[in-house]
Amino acid sequence: MKVNFNPAAVPSPSYVVDEALLIKNLEVMKHVIDQTGCKILLAQKGFSMFSVYPLIGQYLDGVTSSGVLEARLGYEEMGKEVHTYAPAFSDHDFDAILKYSDHIVFNSFRQWEKFRDRVQASPKNIECGIRINPEYSEIEVDMYNPCFAYSRFGVTKQHFKDDQLEGIDGLHFHTMCEQNSDTLERTVKVVEEKFGDYLKELKWLNFGGGHHITREDYDVDRLIRTINYVKEKYDVQVYLEPGEAVALNTGFLVATVLDTLVNGMPIAILDTSASTHMPDVLEMPYRPEIAGAGKPNEKAHTYRLGGPTCLAGDVIGDYSFDQPLKPGDKLVFGDMAHYTMVKNNTFNGINLPSIVLNTVEEGIKVIKQFGYEDFKNRLS
Ligand SMILES: Cc1ncc(COP(=O)(O)O)c(C=O)c1O
Repeated sequence: MKVNFNPAAVPSPSYVVDEALLIKNLEVMKHVIDQTGCKILLAQKGFSMFSVYPLIGQYLDGVTSSGVLEARLGYEEMGKEVHTYAPAFSDHDFDAILKYSDHIVFNSFRQWEKFRDRVQASPKNIECGIRINPEYSEIEVDMYNPCFAYSRFGVTKQHFKDDQLEGIDGLHFHTMCEQNSDTLERTVKVVEEKFGDYLKELKWLNFGGGHHITREDYDVDRLIRTINYVKEKYDVQVYLEPGEAVALNTGFLVATVLDTLVNGMPIAILDTSASTHMPDVLEMPYRPEIAGAGKPNEKAHTYRLGGPTCLAGDVIGDYSFDQPLKPGDKLVFGDMAHYTMVKNNTFNGINLPSIVLNTVEEGIKVIKQFGYEDFKNRLS
């Protein structure tokens, strides 16, 4: 992991997003757009750092949203296409969904029937889609598998109502998680077998997210071939809506050692927390990389790193270092842009990390710092 800024020069803790690395990812995606004519949307659930939306909007076609708040954010801060999908929409949100979205994807034909008249009465031209569940995915962990048994996501072939497609412009599937384009290729085959007959009548097919397009070993050419195959065979506009891949390996979390102690092994307490600042470390779970640190016992000094909350399991992991850790030392965690800022919380009254952009032209820019008012305003 390369850290090309001075960790001591940013507030601690901070998420530091590197603009040059973000541009590098966006260029890969632009290449896919240029080679296929597909449209790529930022899945805001994965990355909603809206101060860089104008930059992202120079490369991508818009955003996808999980509901009214994300739809509004994308509409106001990027101002390009706004797609919205939710497992179910509520009556009271739907006028705002109509206001901010230009594409709405319904999770069931019942939801489509329920909201169809409101969509059609809208003065805006809003394209509608149905999320399908092809009952095929290659994800082994149920927590992240939208096609696991009894999944609530999408209409299966058995429940697909081809007599209710009037007014429907497209289909949407999301069945992948951090996967390569060979998985997509196999998924598309199943989608074709089950839903291919309907595709010919429609304008678009959305391939969802979970495409790890910007990972080093990702087969971009196969993605391009798959998109072009679908586009040519069915004459549809293809959409992709990656979240993670947009911000993959573009961000860091800078933290400080607050104290060290020994209880069976050396322990360091940091000013950052898995539970509040990087919840996927506990939820996925996974072990984030730290610049200059090794696996336990790989280097001379091994520590268990823990957060400042009361949660006993707020442990980031065991890491080894060349030198003993001491209060004031900075640690830099890698790949901390996606699914961090969007999932963090103030449990225990732990303050949120600052949001920092390492810009190409001016270097470090502190975009936002948080404090008591942010903590208080989400409570009452
Ligand atoms: C419907 C939908 N689209 C897009 C995404 C983005 O996925 P990723 O961030 O893995 O690319 C998700 C993630 O859960 C999703 O549920």
